[in-house]
Amino acid sequence: MKVFYSVSEFRSWENQLPVIFVPTMGALHEGHASLMRAARRPGFASVVSIFVNPTQFGPNEDFSKYPRTLDADLEVCRQHGVDAVLVPEVVDIYPVNDATMVKVGGVAEPYEGAFRPSHFDGVATVVLKLFNIVQPAVACFGQKDLQQCAVIQQMVRDLAVPVSIEVLPTMREDDGLALSSRNRYLSTESRAKAAYLPHVLKECLRSISQGLDVPKILDSSSQALANNGFEVQYLAWIDPLTFEPQAKFDPRFRLVVAAKFEGVRLIDNIGLQDLDLVSIEKA
Ligand code: PAJ
Repeated sequence: MKVFYSVSEFRSWENQLPVIFVPTMGALHEGHASLMRAARRPGFASVVSIFVNPTQFGPNEDFSKYPRTLDADLEVCRQHGVDAVLVPEVVDIYPVNDATMVKVGGVAEPYEGAFRPSHFDGVATVVLKLFNIVQPAVACFGQKDLQQCAVIQQMVRDLAVPVSIEVLPTMREDDGLALSSRNRYLSTESRAKAAYLPHVLKECLRSISQGLDVPKILDSSSQALANNGFEVQYLAWIDPLTFEPQAKFDPRFRLVVAAKFEGVRLIDNIGLQDLDLVSIEKA
């Protein structure tokens, strides 16, 4: 496995194969590993980037304390047969005196966009830069970050970026909690209680799919979360193509949620169309 610590080193890599790319911020877990498995295909080279991107963190967010576990991360990549890892420095991605950012409108504005202003500008900017450096044929993203997937698909379409975007299902713990690098901020006790979030999502989805009144169900589910120590930022039933809220059941639509639990911000989403319900069922 090649490990490149700069963009220029990466550009001198003599690879003849089309690339399948998995961008990450490190602190790798089974969710990232599932993307690496999807990226490993005959006739392709798989490339993972590990870069904690400063521009997607707000002033009061966890950029400086975001977990950095490079040695363990490289081992995960090695175990999953990744061909090359790019681990650039901040100055390599953001040259001194840079003055260009990518701003996506529409799907980037509500929900995550509203609670984390400029977050998606940072995501779109770094992902476009990484695409320009790595020049992948295919890039893999996790459905865990549903709105991020929509933002990247919008950018790729609008800016005619020559890459095909693939969205892979959310990996969960046995109790249903979606894997996330931020779960490690939870104490053992909070971690156990946090599984209430996917449990409520599952119940809420079940009720919506039975044709019950959507606003009422969203209200009572939010209330149930609040009663169990969750500070709900949003819980919504949306069309994943537009991120507009919906009042009727449709099997394409999804529930999206963001809630703080014991100070840790958790996001998740589920819909009838993926396998999420199978793993959540255990919760
Ligand atoms: P990061 O949070 O490290 O996630 C990297 C990729 O792993 C994303 O596509 C994310 O959706 C996916 N992922 C995270 N948890 C997952 C889970 N439980 N199941 C499946 N996939 C999961 O997302 C980012 O980094 C950054 O915003 C990035 C795109 C790298 C730009 O900086």
